[in-house]
Amino acid sequence: MSVFKHNSDYNILKADLITLSLELTHEDFKKVDFLLTKEFARGLKSTKDSTIKMYLTYVRSLPNNEERGQYLALDLGGTNFRVLLVEFNRDSSKIVDCVREAIPAKLRFGAGSDLFDFIAEHVVSFAIKHQLVGVRIALGFTFSFPLQQQGLAEAHLVTWTKSFNCAGVVGFDVVRLLKAALKRKMHKSIPYVDVVAIINDTTGTLIAGALKDKNCMIGLIVGTGANACYVEKLENLEKWPFNYSDPKQVVINTEFGAFGDNSVLDFVRTIWDRSLDAESVNSGKQVYEKMLSGMYLPEIFRRVLLTLIERGVLFNGHLPLELLRPNSISTKIMSDIDQDTNMENFTKTREAIKKLFPHCKFNEVDVKIVFMINNRITKRSAQMVATGIWALAKRIKQNEVSVAYDGALISLHPYFRVWVEEKLSQFINSNAPGKKIKLIQANDGSGLGAAIVAAVCYREKRPKIIKKRGKVYQITSFQTK
Ligand code: BGC
Repeated sequence: MSVFKHNSDYNILKADLITLSLELTHEDFKKVDFLLTKEFARGLKSTKDSTIKMYLTYVRSLPNNEERGQYLALDLGGTNFRVLLVEFNRDSSKIVDCVREAIPAKLRFGAGSDLFDFIAEHVVSFAIKHQLVGVRIALGFTFSFPLQQQGLAEAHLVTWTKSFNCAGVVGFDVVRLLKAALKRKMHKSIPYVDVVAIINDTTGTLIAGALKDKNCMIGLIVGTGANACYVEKLENLEKWPFNYSDPKQVVINTEFGAFGDNSVLDFVRTIWDRSLDAESVNSGKQVYEKMLSGMYLPEIFRRVLLTLIERGVLFNGHLPLELLRPNSISTKIMSDIDQDTNMENFTKTREAIKKLFPHCKFNEVDVKIVFMINNRITKRSAQMVATGIWALAKRIKQNEVSVAYDGALISLHPYFRVWVEEKLSQFINSNAPGKKIKLIQANDGSGLGAAIVAAVCYREKRPKIIKKRGKVYQITSFQTK
């Protein structure tokens, strides 16, 4: 329902009507939940026949604070990558050092070998800086893109997402590509960096959350991209390839961002969602992610503003030229605008308009319209995220489930988390009143989680190799709690 229902200003009413498709009813979310639930079940049966792939991560049980020593973590997933040195002591883990490097656009769209060389060079100089000379040091690799894993240290890239599209990587084992690049950069006297595990950022977040809360069963990222993972019972996994030894569970990387790629979400997609998708580097892919993650919300916002100006409803029909530039709006600005909840003077919205369009003349009504549109887009995203979490939490047959989350949008936005919780409560109250779903912030899961997995792998030294139906699978199980 619109917050401006009783406002008599004609332009506000017009803007309200034009953008009503961005406001979904609970009935719509119930349908989204139904479709998600169906798709999750399909993905658990077969990766090939589903849009939500439900990838096996081979991470079986969650850490138990027994890890010791120093490990490296490499985190690649956004426009920056990070290298971290993490130290585990008796009761604590500490990030000793972390460097962050921007990845130039030409590398994100160039040859894969150049990208891996660039990263390897930074990893090696980081190791040298820490005098890790002449030692063998284990590295956990957080690679936040869809992977078909064959084991903890073998994973083929299925497709690029977000702002990457490097040639010669899709279909290849990215651990091998990284190892090869490291080999090219490592010389005799310098460290031997051993890539022992690869995980997704959601898995890292879940692992980091599990250290704090024993009910943590779901890992969620809502940042540049969006995705979730959770702990599933082996008995529910037709595609689990081999033994049913303890622990009888495995972390599943849902890759739920691809939900809707088979058109099932068309009933809630707006003209702006469609035009954004049509002009994106991966058109037709990651439909759900494009409705909710930080990389796309500002572009939806920009497109809606353009429509309203075109229809003469906003800024008196005058187009600020800045608005023509793709990616000219940031998620940070959208978060700022959402701070104006008292709806009296709209200070933040006013500031945002001045910052975005310095030469634009605007009035009270324009400010209210900009606030309303922004709010509709961010709220829809939070409610979509909640629906995804609810559909997953239903699969976990325990009363209390904690969700570890990370990512700039959910962590830095003033109300995103509250809106997720509100929508979750609505689902819980009408379906499972006894259930409790708690959101916990997992700081830096994508760094810490990879180091923990590396530590566990290293402790167990060599993964077991299992052969089945002519295929070789590798598995490392963690110690149970
Ligand atoms: C990727 C996921 C990742 C998510 C959050 C998506 O685009 O496909 O693997 O977990 O972004 O970084």
